Amino acid sequence: MPQTAQNQQKMDAAKAALAHIKPMLENNSIVGVGTGSTVNYFIDELASVKHLFRAAVSSSDESTQRLQDHGISVMDLNEVNELEFYVDGADESNTHLQLIKGGGAALTREKIVAAVARKFVCIVDESKLVGVLGGFALPVEVIPMARSYVARKLAGLGGMPEYRAGVVTDNGNHILDVHNLKILNPLDLEKTINNIVGVVSNGLFASRAADILIVGGTNGVTVKKPN
Ligand code: 5RP
Repeated sequence: MPQTAQNQQKMDAAKAALAHIKPMLENNSIVGVGTGSTVNYFIDELASVKHLFRAAVSSSDESTQRLQDHGISVMDLNEVNELEFYVDGADESNTHLQLIKGGGAALTREKIVAAVARKFVCIVDESKLVGVLGGFALPVEVIPMARSYVARKLAGLGGMPEYRAGVVTDNGNHILDVHNLKILNPLDLEKTINNIVGVVSNGLFASRAADILIVGGTNGVTVKKPN
């Protein structure tokens, strides 16, 4: 897909997400905000209604900066008891709205904010829709000293882990991208990888899947619920 068409679809999904949450925003609302190019469009849209809500919580330093550049205050998640919405992108989604995330290396904080939120609104362009997860290499955040050990364990699960050289996460950790996984049972694999010592988290969002998926496509926007 040409880049411009894909960007238009990302923008369309972001606008639709704002239209979805806007009627529910209140003076004391806190909005959870993810990371990535699709979310960047959402942040730019959110700025137009910043008078309608209190603050955001953010899943990355990059998104925090963009929110603050728009004059949106960003709160520490520890100060927040209730989070109505979390809006974030994804690298892949299946029909159950189970996701692969972490292309931007923000998976751990994304998972934490998604866990707190009552509703996870995922925004994607249509290229992200798949039948079976795993075409996109699965990101795994690891404690740096455990990188080789975890890589051997991931190879034992049938994957081909590749060190994302030069990338340090906001938490000071490393990323392994695991190629060649055909993920037929995302719930099991998510747990299995989390059980490897040295893994901080992995990019499978299966136990906490999205609640709705807003897809920008060639024929406009569609809203999907889990099958
Ligand atoms: C970052 C993510 C992103 O949501 C994912 O990589 C999608 O990014 P984009 O909207 O740029 O396609 O998980 O860690």
